[in-house]
Amino acid sequence: MVKKICCIGAGYVGGPTMAMIALKCPEIEVVVVDINEARIAGWNSDKLPIYEPGLDEVVKAARGRNLFFSTDVTKHVAEADIVFVSVNTPTKTQGVGAGKAADLTYWEGAARVIASCSTSSKIIVEKSTVPVKTADAIEKVLRRNCKHKGVQFEILSNPEFLAEGTAIEDLTAPDRVLIGGKDTPSGRAAVEALASVYAHWVPHERILCTNLWSAELSKLTANAMLAQRISSVNSISALCEATGADVQQVAKSIGTDSRIGPKFLNASVGFGGSCFQKDILNLVYICESVGLQAVADYWHQVILMNDYQKQRFVEQVISAMFNTISKKKIAVYGFAFKKDTGDTRETPAIDVCRGLMADGARVCVYDPEVEDSQIYQDLGTAKFEWDHPTPKSAPVSKDAITISHDPMEAAKDAHAICVLTEWDEFKTYDYQKVYDSMVKPAFVFDGRNILDHAKLREIGFIVYAIGKPLDPFLQK
Ligand code: UDX
Ligand code: UDX
Ligand code: ADP
Repeated sequence: MVKKICCIGAGYVGGPTMAMIALKCPEIEVVVVDINEARIAGWNSDKLPIYEPGLDEVVKAARGRNLFFSTDVTKHVAEADIVFVSVNTPTKTQGVGAGKAADLTYWEGAARVIASCSTSSKIIVEKSTVPVKTADAIEKVLRRNCKHKGVQFEILSNPEFLAEGTAIEDLTAPDRVLIGGKDTPSGRAAVEALASVYAHWVPHERILCTNLWSAELSKLTANAMLAQRISSVNSISALCEATGADVQQVAKSIGTDSRIGPKFLNASVGFGGSCFQKDILNLVYICESVGLQAVADYWHQVILMNDYQKQRFVEQVISAMFNTISKKKIAVYGFAFKKDTGDTRETPAIDVCRGLMADGARVCVYDPEVEDSQIYQDLGTAKFEWDHPTPKSAPVSKDAITISHDPMEAAKDAHAICVLTEWDEFKTYDYQKVYDSMVKPAFVFDGRNILDHAKLREIGFIVYAIGKPLDPFLQK
């Protein structure tokens, strides 16, 4: 019987996942621990540290009842039957595998804490995405560091498939829950124990049990295939612009083939988020480590295509605006990597803004959720590029960029608007009013294909949209 669950790491994955488990399993005590005091204080306050639709309600319903947030890592780990590890696994920035391999410092730190404070046997659950065979390494750390005789650790892989912005929906009705474990009596018992937690609300047939390595590799592969779909449709968007086809028509046409399916075929300025790039780089690194260079090259191309798409967008902006954007004000609508989140990790907006500023533009960013300090931090620190041993893009100074909290003000006296996130509110603005306040000719570069382009053209805008037939004004 599972009585207590502890989750190490109160981030985008750990926080919402544990809140959902607590909500659905009132008889289980769930404690989320983190070394970051500010984060824990946030989870205990009215303003949660992450923005996620529906999350407030779930946390409020369970917090104080059977859901707790604490910085006392050792106490709660020691008391738990199941310990989820949901710490950050960034890409290494130095040493062997820099730019590709996962940095497992935090994971190993968590494992050492578990080993040192455990006085009873526990199930340890990998929740953060980790390279295949991490469970092996972690088990060694746990076994060699545990001082208590008779304490056993059973390691499971239970990858998370929630997407930001829809985390609560994804957790409430997951396509599947994947649990990987060892094919031994104790391994099978551990898988059963974790499955019984999810069985409180997930139908039995959606709980898939596999071996450890399959579960770990499935997570990387799922993200790599999703990213590949976007890079594939983005590559076709470039061809559409060159030939007069319309990428949305193409996407719709191919999506009706049930073997392809309609989802994840929106051409965009590029994919972002904490997972896609990191997981593919991880996959590439693993392939290289086992000598599968052709496989590594195949997946790496997905990232190169994504970089190309962002670069292509910047080049379109510059060439449309008479090959000079120096000193021109450009309004950027949306900085988050997708709508309904304040998260900016790997957002295409970082590369696009850098590209525009490198050509001398004055960028004014408006985003409904992203904190100003985050934007300054993202654009103000040098970017580490996987294939360059030293940071390639120099940090930009705070003065080169302004941030506005009003979309009208952001567009005032601007030469162009670049839509980089698909926030719903961007569709609702009075674009006649926006147009009247801008310098002419006024441009819109829709990096998400969400605006009504015909209407914008009627107003007088010159419109560029990803993968759409080019405006006559823009044809060479
Ligand atoms: C992803 C996976 O979807 C999720 O299963 C996994 O657990 C974590 O990584 P997330 O990064 O939160 O989730 O968001 P997702 O919806 O997958 O979008 C990723 C990026 O792709 C965003 O920048 C989004 O704008 C972009 N995207 C998505 C497109 O450009 N076109 C699409 O059709 C879909
Ligand atoms: C294909 C398209 O499916 C069809 O829509 C188009 O009109 C013509 O091309 P076809 O070549 O007849 O049809 O067969 P298909 O079933 O698509 O298989 C093509 C190849 O892929 C076969 O060699 C098949 O064995 C292989 N395949 C298919 C796999 O290796 N794995 C799969 O999962 C599916
Ligand atoms: P994710 O998106 O995978 O949830 P985040 O970076 O949002 O990743 O969250 C990971 C959290 O894990 C951070 O809040 C970090 O402070 C926490 N963390 C990292 N190492 C430890 C550790 N050894 N003990 C407790 N918390 C940790």
